[in-house]
Amino acid sequence: MPLALISGTSRGIGKALAVRLLDSGWEVEGCSRGEASLSHPGYVHRRVDVTDEPAVVAHVADVVRRRGRVDALVCNAGAASMNAFLLTPGSVAEAMMRVNYLSAFNLGREVAKAMVRQRGGAIVNLSSVAVPLSLEGEAAYVAAKAAVEALTKVMAAELAPHGIRVNAVGPGPVDTALTRTVPRDKLEALRRRMGLERELGMDEVVSAIADLIEPSATVTGRILHVGLNGSR
Ligand SMILES: NC(=O)c1ccc[n+]([C@@H]2O[C@H](COP(=O)([O-])OP(=O)(O)OC[C@H]3O[C@@H](n4cnc5c(N)ncnc54)[C@H](OP(=O)(O)O)[C@@H]3O)[C@@H](O)[C@H]2O)c1
Repeated sequence: MPLALISGTSRGIGKALAVRLLDSGWEVEGCSRGEASLSHPGYVHRRVDVTDEPAVVAHVADVVRRRGRVDALVCNAGAASMNAFLLTPGSVAEAMMRVNYLSAFNLGREVAKAMVRQRGGAIVNLSSVAVPLSLEGEAAYVAAKAAVEALTKVMAAELAPHGIRVNAVGPGPVDTALTRTVPRDKLEALRRRMGLERELGMDEVVSAIADLIEPSATVTGRILHVGLNGSR
């Protein structure tokens, strides 16, 4: 059975993705700062803070030692921050970089070392439609996710000779803890800007990620903004 390592599986997109993959025959190594919130014979949960580089290195080494290989990595753990740019302290920008970008950088590097040895694998990093829309009020988050998108492309270029594909999925708003604090009218205005006349379903986001990590998939170096009308 193929093995996926996913960060941020205690709720939201990461948890829904873990359930989808488990249902379709994958085994999943999940993590978050807290305890597991899902139980399945194919699921293992570890408590890891993805902003802590030594903890990430130790986590990946532990998975590789126990499992021998990692077929897919999904760097999903992340957090958002809504703040007017003029009022955003540097500490918030730094925290956004650590949880969204540095986590993907360190997880990607460690898992890619194993994928190079096994001569193949697929990586998906989570971005957001907030990047192409240059979303006002989210400068620190948008900058961190823009860094994730740039990282994705360089990783795809460097890792292609090793048979490793690297893509990013940037969803529009889906109903999770991350978006529940955003006022409804703001979410509706965002969907209108995206050219989306309805709510985005969790299934649509999960399918986009699952399709990209399928062993039969061939695409690499792409950023897929789910729900965004690409003509905008
Ligand atoms: N929801 C959306 O509409 C949306 C749109 C665009 C992009 N995204 C992106 O999609 C990803 C998932 O978002 P979501 O909406 O599912 O968020 P969520 O519901 O808040 O879940 C975030 C997950 O990440 C984990 N996490 C957060 N900080 C962590 C840390 N330092 N170390 C380890 N795990 C950590 C959380 O667990 P603990 O708190 O227990 O650690 C949780 O499992 C994020 O990268 C987000 O930026 C979401």
